[in-house]
Order: sequence, then structure tokens, then C-alpha cells
Amino acid sequence: LTSSLGLCSSDTYVLDDNAGLGRVFDGIGGLSGGGATSRLLVNYEEPYRSRILDYLFKPNFGASLHILKVEIGGDAQTTDGTEPSHMHYENDENYFRGYEWWLMKEAKKRNPNITLIGLPWAFPGWVGHGKNWPYDFPDITAAYVVNWILGAKQYHDLDIQYVGIWNERNYDTKYIKLLRYTLDKSGLEGVRIIASDNLWEPIALSLLLDPELSTAVDVIGAHYPGTTTVSDALKTQKTLWSSEDYSTFNDEVGGGCWARILNQNYVNGHMTATISWNLVASYYENLPFGRDGLMTAEEPWSGNYVVESPIWITAHTTQFTQPGWTYLQTVGHLAQGGSYVALTDGKGNLTVVIETMTHDHSVCIRPPLLPFNVTSQNATFQLKGSFTSIKELQVWRSQFNFKTKKPSLFKKLTPLKLSNGSFTLNLAEDEVYTLTTITTGEKGSYPDPPPSARFPKVYKDNFNVRNPPFSEAPDFADQTGVFEYHINLTDPGPYTFTLRQVLTERPITWATDADQTISVIGDYQWQNLTVTCDIFMESVKTGGVFIAARVDKGGQSIRSARGVFFWVFADGTYKVTNDLAGQTVLAEGQSGTRAYGWHTLSLTVKGQLASGLLNGYPLWKNAVVLNPNNGWAAIGTHSFELAQFDNFAVVAE
Ligand code: GAL
Ligand code: CA
Repeated sequence: LTSSLGLCSSDTYVLDDNAGLGRVFDGIGGLSGGGATSRLLVNYEEPYRSRILDYLFKPNFGASLHILKVEIGGDAQTTDGTEPSHMHYENDENYFRGYEWWLMKEAKKRNPNITLIGLPWAFPGWVGHGKNWPYDFPDITAAYVVNWILGAKQYHDLDIQYVGIWNERNYDTKYIKLLRYTLDKSGLEGVRIIASDNLWEPIALSLLLDPELSTAVDVIGAHYPGTTTVSDALKTQKTLWSSEDYSTFNDEVGGGCWARILNQNYVNGHMTATISWNLVASYYENLPFGRDGLMTAEEPWSGNYVVESPIWITAHTTQFTQPGWTYLQTVGHLAQGGSYVALTDGKGNLTVVIETMTHDHSVCIRPPLLPFNVTSQNATFQLKGSFTSIKELQVWRSQFNFKTKKPSLFKKLTPLKLSNGSFTLNLAEDEVYTLTTITTGEKGSYPDPPPSARFPKVYKDNFNVRNPPFSEAPDFADQTGVFEYHINLTDPGPYTFTLRQVLTERPITWATDADQTISVIGDYQWQNLTVTCDIFMESVKTGGVFIAARVDKGGQSIRSARGVFFWVFADGTYKVTNDLAGQTVLAEGQSGTRAYGWHTLSLTVKGQLASGLLNGYPLWKNAVVLNPNNGWAAIGTHSFELAQFDNFAVVAE
């Protein structure tokens, strides 16, 4: 008798609003940037690019995101590349650089109610007057950030609703108050401040101790909170968000991580928004944190993209609740492991999301996940209060099926008829359920995209575009410095349209940018190839540029990148080095190269030998390259200096 009771037993959970509600839900979001994570997305051809955007933003289709957070480009390396600033120089303003404006507009086209957030990781050097610190001149920093918000409105009709301080770096209370003051003074009283995009502390304590600071800040945003918060944060009575989370390889375990934290960030940590780093993995996979996006779109040259499991896990929440809905107080853990949340629009609608992710199938990149157990169980939900009379609920289910490796994601099941306001589910391990009164859910789909393919072995760009849709040329992924389309208005000749490195000063960095500038391109597996490019130095005597092959590192490791680098300098010399820093010299000598003249460089690497041509004539040959064996092609400059590039070409084996 006991054992049969055990088998059939079901724990009961009450869903009730009689004693009041919980916190207001603010949404689920994705983060573009921090940095350059959407770099390759912009170069997808239609209709694939629009389809990817639909999977991310279109309501009742895919992830149907409520929030888009973007990096306020600061010209510096911020994980997978640099993003351009709207103010490279003190007297410069341009609100058409990069792709975040475009992305925000595409998101808003699909979901006019999407919440937009901006956050700086880095700042142009002038903001700190040359010091690697943005708070010595807080008025300059505040004006710089507020300009970005004003530009969003003026040039793109985008209303930025929230702005942050300095991603995962120090905050300065004087600066936060001044930012609030500058926003208000600029007619942006409605823009709310998130602080500090780092840990719960010390910001929570600062808010408790400083009432003026507390007035300035609306949301405490913590990163990778591991679903928990701290008592100081609760004491502030502020809205609590996981303003950056996930960052996990987007296979099924990544989907499991996302399912668990979307529920438990509220259940355990009272967080009412969770934002995924990153939105879409649209950067070369061999850069740091490859494929840590809700979906993958890293092959604009083939058109291939992959709608990964986190998209459908997001849909379980996003399609059935909206910012402004309220969590019930009756949320919690299931007796045999897993969790449930419930939300209402206050007009009788109810959405319940349940997850039973097991430990090993829901590990996120950070923080470490303590052990816990989940086993299959029956769960009875008893609806009370406003929900007593609900007769039917729509049912959506995801089963990860780790054993068979055949997941069934976001599947609509037969609606559930309720008797006496209660229903029972047989929950297995690694499942996600949505039960809802909302009937508009849909699993969107498009025909399969083209098959995956490697980067083309023959690639050319002459940069001859009069009105480029983006400031950056396709497929170049800047790792230090910013490379932009450039027009030489006074030059009617063959070099009117070029690509130019535009930074003249080291930014206030977030990572350890190189001392040189560099943009990588191509296939990381390339070994034997010829890279050719016309180059134009703009620094008399001190100028220097390179073309490179087999570049083996990017992102935060860019300083230690190795490869084969062919440099020419404006003092009439050349060098061949095995590293970006230029410490291992393979060859050097006279080249006769000067600033303000075009030169053609050509670098061939084959097996363990490399050779170089200048203006079509051999300059050096048979330099011995023991490693690296493979890597990207690249262009760059010797320092933060202006220089131009044209007629870039690669022929790879
Ligand atoms: C975060 C950072 C992101 C990205 C991510 C990778 O801490 O804010 O820009 O680097 O880590 O996991
Ligand atoms: Ca050209």
C-alpha cells in the first residue's frame, strides 16, 4: 500500500493571488555587444537576415524578446571585437556607425514595445583626457553617454529606456548622480539608470547608505547572479535584474541552463528581468566564447544559421507574458526538484512556467552550480483566487531527451481541461512546460537555410561603395582599433573609396587592447595563402602598417596574437614578425616605403615558409614560420594612427 501510494502520490502547489501579488515582470532580453557579437549578422543576404531577426524579435514566432540591450560602442575591444563610438574624437559626432542602431530599429519594427537599453564597456580616449579612467571628468562622460541617447532619438527615432554605468568595472557615485542630472536636464527624465552591471555589492550597500544615489538609480543590475541575490539588494526595495546572464555554449545544456535561470532568477533571487549574453552568436567561432548566443548566425557567406534550443526555451516565457505582468507570490521549487513561476496580467490571464532541469543538463558558464537532485514527479496545481474559474489551459512542452539526443522543443499539446480549478502533470526530468490562458503562441518556422560552408577561399574587397549601409566592410572583425569605409574626396584616382583605421588615441579600455590596431577576416583554418592589399600611411616617419596571415588569437587575447605579420614603415623600412607585438622578428630591411603614397603589399605563406612582395617585386623570401599553423588573415597599423587599405584580396589553398 505504501509503495503504491508513493508511486501515485502527487505534491500539490497552490497558485493564488488572494494574498496579493509578487513583483512586476520586466522581460527577457538579449545583449548585442560587449562586444561585436552581432558583427557578422549584418552581412547576411535577404531573406536570411530578416528570418534570423524574426526568430529573435517577432512576437509569437520565436524568442519574441521583450528587451534588447546594446553596447554603446567605445572604440575598444570588448570580448569579440571593437564597436565604434559615436564620438571618436572630442569634436566628432556620428550616429550612423556600427550596427547597433540598425539592430534596434529592426527589433522595434518587429516589436514596437521592445525595451531598449544602452551600456558602455569602453570609452574613446579623449573622454578620460588620455587617462584609462572615465570618472576624472564626469561631466564629459555624462555628456558623452547622454549624446548617444539623444542621437538614438534624433537620428533613428529610438527611445532608449535604460542606461547603465560601466560594464563590470568601477562605478563612481558622483558620476551616477551627474548622469541622472544630465539626463533630466536634457529632457530625458524618463530614462532610467541601471547600476552597476557587476555584482550585487558594493552597489546595494552604496544605495542603502546614500539616499541621493538611491534616488538616481532605478534598477540594480547584477551579472551572472547564479539565481540568487543578497539581503542588502532586497533592503533597497529596488527592482532587481540579472542584467547579464547565460554566456553558455548554445547546445542543449545551454538551453537547460537558460530554462533553469529564467525561472529561478525570480524564484530564488527576485529578479524580474534576465538578459542573455549574447543575443545571437554572430562572430567568428574561434573568437572567445564562440556560440554563446541564443542562436547561431556566424556564416553570412553561406547564409546558414541555426535556431538553437535557447530560442525555444525563451519562447516558453516570452510568448505568454509581457513586461507589466506581475508574478504571483505563489512561485517556488517542486518537491522532487525543478521550479515553477506564475504570472498574471491582472485581468484574469495566467501563465505558469515549469522547469525540471537536472544539474548536469543545466550547467551555465558561471558561477559554479552546487549539486541538486531532480527526479520525475507528479505535480498538482490548484488554482485559487482570480484563477479559480479557469476552465482550460494551453499547454506547451519542451523535452530535452538527452538520452536519445532528439529533443522535442516548444511543442503545442492538447489544451488541458480543468476540473475544480486543478490539474496534474507527470513531469519527467529535463522538461519545460508552459500552461497558459494565452492562445496566441506559435512555433514559427522558415524553410531550412542554405547549408553551412567555409569562408570562400578566394575573397576580394575594393571598398568601392559610395553609400555603404554600414560603416564597416563585410567580414572584417576589428580586434583593436576601428576600420571604416572612407572616401578621399580630393582623390579622383583609383583610391577614392578605401578602408581606414580611424583611431588616433588608445581608448579607455575594457580589455587589454593591443598597442597596434588589427582587423581579422576569413577562415581560422587557413594555412597556406596569399594576402594582398594596397596600403597608405598617414603618419610621416612614424607610420607603420601590416598585412598578416595565420593570426591565431582575437578578443581579450589580442595582445598575444601570433601569426605572420608583414610590416612596412614610413621611415623606409620593413619587418616580418611572428607576432602582433613585433617581438619575434623573422626578417627586416629597407623598403623605401613612405607616408602619403600607396604601396601594394603581398604576403604568401606556404608550409613553413613565407615571402613578401612590395609593389609586385620580391622584397623578402623564405622566412621560416614554425607556428602558428593556421589562423585568420588580417590588416592593421603599428599604433593608433590613421592609415588606409584598398584592394584587399586573399587566395587560400
Ligand atoms: C561578461 C562580459 C561580456 C562577455 C561575457 C563572456 O562578463 O560583460 O562582455 O565578455 O562576460 O562570458
Ligand atoms: Ca577602392
